[in-house]
Amino acid sequence: MNILVINGPNLNLLGERDTSIYGKETLDQLMNKLESQSKPKINKFHFFQSNHEGEIIDVIHHKRNWASGIIINPGALTHYSYAIRDAIEAVRIPTAEVHLSNINNRESFRKTSVISDVCICQIQGLGGKGYFKALEALINYIK
Ligand code: DQA
Repeated sequence: MNILVINGPNLNLLGERDTSIYGKETLDQLMNKLESQSKPKINKFHFFQSNHEGEIIDVIHHKRNWASGIIINPGALTHYSYAIRDAIEAVRIPTAEVHLSNINNRESFRKTSVISDVCICQIQGLGGKGYFKALEALINYIK
């Protein structure tokens, strides 16, 4: 399986940003773990992080004929980016939504995800483990 893993705005600051909410691991540490602990012969990854909405849409478009599944943590764009939502819908690639924190237990604006209706699942509140759960969900869905 070819898995496109997208992390949105401010997730490049993991490890220093609000560690009581997001944990101490850096994004590189998390992504390296995801790659090394999954089956290397079966899963190939393309990791992408951007602080720009348009770049996230572009990578979804550019990788649409390569990716069999997408794992996405759109950061704050989760709550208002209809453009990312539409990109996921347009490419019709099974997509798992991940949030490190529990978005339902925080500020009220975080309770809304505008992408969840085009995703196969939403995993939240599990920290870095959420990416592994998302991968598992994608593999089960695609099988
Ligand atoms: C987040 C939750 C969002 O509300 C926030 O804006 C983020 C990270 C999470 O992983 O918990 O940047 O997506």
